[in-house]
Amino acid sequence: MKVKRLGILTGGGDCPGLNPAIRAVVMRAFDFGYEVLGIKDGWAGLINGDFEPLNLEMVRDILSRGGTILGTSRTNPFKKDEDKNRALENFSRLGLDALIVIGGDDTLSVAGKFFREGLPIVGIPKTMDNDVPETDYCIGFDTAVSVAIDALERLKDTAWSHRRIMVLEVMGREAGWVALYTGLAGGADWILIPEVPVDLDEVALNLMEKRKRGRLWGTVVVSEAVELKGALKEEGTGEIDEFGHGRLGARGVGQVLSREIEKRTGIPSKHAVIGHIQRGGSPVLRDRYYPTRFGISAVDLVHKGGFGLMVALKGKEIKTVAMEKVVGRVKTVPPELYEVCKILFK
Ligand code: F6P
Repeated sequence: MKVKRLGILTGGGDCPGLNPAIRAVVMRAFDFGYEVLGIKDGWAGLINGDFEPLNLEMVRDILSRGGTILGTSRTNPFKKDEDKNRALENFSRLGLDALIVIGGDDTLSVAGKFFREGLPIVGIPKTMDNDVPETDYCIGFDTAVSVAIDALERLKDTAWSHRRIMVLEVMGREAGWVALYTGLAGGADWILIPEVPVDLDEVALNLMEKRKRGRLWGTVVVSEAVELKGALKEEGTGEIDEFGHGRLGARGVGQVLSREIEKRTGIPSKHAVIGHIQRGGSPVLRDRYYPTRFGISAVDLVHKGGFGLMVALKGKEIKTVAMEKVVGRVKTVPPELYEVCKILFK
């Protein structure tokens, strides 16, 4: 079937790089004469029939803007049959011939379900957590890490001046990519990620030995999802979203870790939580270049009828993978990579 009208939506947490992808989709769609409808606020827009036609002038200059011009939400249309049916009805009512979905695990899992229900969908991986499987890169990761490195360097200045240990808590729902890259590139004394069980004695010993050698201060990067005695369980944080996730930032991992470090080492320690600051701002190079390539490739896939596929970065090449290979899985940090980081904890 010839595509005439293409929908596009962004779902889940926003991050820098979404607008470059939207821009590229609209620009490539123009080459094929497609009309593009921007579906507002993620899956909520499809349920409510809320959309806006997009044209070249609307997207030409959005390359450097963080966030998403379409809006986003964590709406799960499969929570209620009524919502799922309304989304399906609106897809037909709006005359959509195809839909490009930009999102992380939750949003893409919904895309996979709708594909199985017969909707012609193409996926683009996005999450600052960088944990979508089958792709080396997800939109938003590089900017989030750059912001976190900047925060760590600022904390180093104050840690040095006060002879303290500063703990930086960064985001990352199920994987420690952001913490690992931030700690590695920012030169942290230690990094804690959810993939590796915490040994607080090992951390304390490391920091005390350095102090004996005359280094009176230090920094530790911890991922919000790390399991730590004294930190809240995710389900204990009160607010659960439509995909069943609690508020990880409310677990208090950074604070608990900082207190434990002070107790075990006798070195004064404070913590900082960078939170959503990581998700804002203008995208860095890779969060402009790859989203643009992903957007073009996604429209090319639509043109070829490659539905049920997600665009992906493998090495330096843009490839495609079946969406069903991606959903329900998380790309975690391999233990060998963490071992490489530990070489630098001395
Ligand atoms: O999934 C991306 C992410 O930034 C996670 O790292 C974090 O736990 C979560 O979103 C926060 O979500 P919200 O913006 O809904 O608070």
